[in-house]
Amino acid sequence: MANIATLEINGEKYEFPLIEGTEKEVAIDIKNLRSTTGGVTTIDPGYKNTGSCESSITFLDGEKGILSYRGYSIEELAEKADFLEVAYLLIFGELPTKEQNDKFHEDIKAESLVDDDIRKIVDAFPKSAHPMGVLSSLTSALTAFNPSSVNVDSEEDMYKSVVRILGKFPVLVAWTLRKKQGLPLDYGDKNLGYVENVLKMMFKKPNEEYVQNKIVVDALDKLLILHADHEQNCSTSTVRIVGSSHAGLFASLSAGISALWGPLHGGANQAVLEMLEAIKEDGGDTKKYMAKAKDKEDPFRLMGFGHRVYKNFDPRAKIIKVAADEVLADLGVEDPILEIAKGLEQEALNDDYFVKRKLYPNVDFYSGIIYRGMGIPTDMFTVMFALGRLPGWIAQWREMRLRKEPIGRPRQLYIGETKRPFVPINKR
Ligand code: ACO
Repeated sequence: MANIATLEINGEKYEFPLIEGTEKEVAIDIKNLRSTTGGVTTIDPGYKNTGSCESSITFLDGEKGILSYRGYSIEELAEKADFLEVAYLLIFGELPTKEQNDKFHEDIKAESLVDDDIRKIVDAFPKSAHPMGVLSSLTSALTAFNPSSVNVDSEEDMYKSVVRILGKFPVLVAWTLRKKQGLPLDYGDKNLGYVENVLKMMFKKPNEEYVQNKIVVDALDKLLILHADHEQNCSTSTVRIVGSSHAGLFASLSAGISALWGPLHGGANQAVLEMLEAIKEDGGDTKKYMAKAKDKEDPFRLMGFGHRVYKNFDPRAKIIKVAADEVLADLGVEDPILEIAKGLEQEALNDDYFVKRKLYPNVDFYSGIIYRGMGIPTDMFTVMFALGRLPGWIAQWREMRLRKEPIGRPRQLYIGETKRPFVPINKR
């Protein structure tokens, strides 16, 4: 294949290099488009065709349903690795050796205390506050109690800030839930694994021992791995673009959490459950809601269906669907919501509207069902997603800084009024 793309504008030809990624994807390098064409720009709302960076962290092929982290397939990682190994892999590029993994975990545990003044901030929130708002604020607040800027040229500094946030974030997640439930804020247990510790911090009651359930631990581990990175999605792009102004890591992460909150992104797992509840309350008529989803006059969308990139199936959804069946059967959960979910799924998979538009269940269609089975409140689902995505955000932020990427600053095409004279207020 020629490695040049030619663009013709008003009879004038311009050439741009084609660059190829390691998975044979091809991109037109338009870095010099404006300077060579005298200011012509591109328009691509939603960035459906625009690569914002070159990255060596996550590869996904939406047509083939492939997702891999640093070259390892998501299927293999979900089956054979644990969340901390995957976090290390994403952030530092290689699977850790046993020694590296043990040290990583020890260093994270050493950083798992949160300044007690953060409790005062937690206390100031009403119980009704949305957990994502609380989590984003607390993450931002960490900046006030920790070194706010990282010397990105120092591997040691970078490592310290990575283990610091991986240590403190689960505490913030647990406090967000405990505040909502009126439980005392507490710390974790240094003797536990990362995921076991998260569960204990979230669910331990002050008057009884917390008993770990291996099925729940394994399911959460898998869920966190499946959510750990997804290349340049809305929240990750947010983290990179905020970080590109050289804002600190915690500030960039806090912005990413806000981006994740929306129902078209991470908030979909909450929206799925709310939708299923609403259908149940309304008599369980899935056909009625299928019709609503297809009606262009109706703003209703089938939450948990469709994906910007996956157009055949979401590989994460495949893994999680199996996990959901296992977990719910093992926990003995019988939930009418499940029947509604299965009914919707079957109808959508056989419906022309959904088939033609390649709308398949995404990861969030099933993750909420598992979280609910584990006893996690619906409005905490997206917080769990954030916990899983944390290593991905950190890895992307670190890569962006190490590659010394320029500040993110898209262009626009102005379509407003052209120059006009000012009219004083008494003459308008
Ligand atoms: N229900 C009904 N129709 C849908 C749905 C849906 N869930 N999703 C897309 N469509 C339709 C659109 O109306 C559009 O139809 P048209 O071509 O007749 O106009 C067509 O399918 C294409 O949809 P777009 O919105 O252009 O697709 P896009 O790639 O921009 O959006 C998105 C992807 C946001 C995920 C969308 O499918 C959606 O809103 N899904 C529901 C929310 C959801 O589950 N989000 C979670 C995503 S996964 C994640 O963030 C981890």
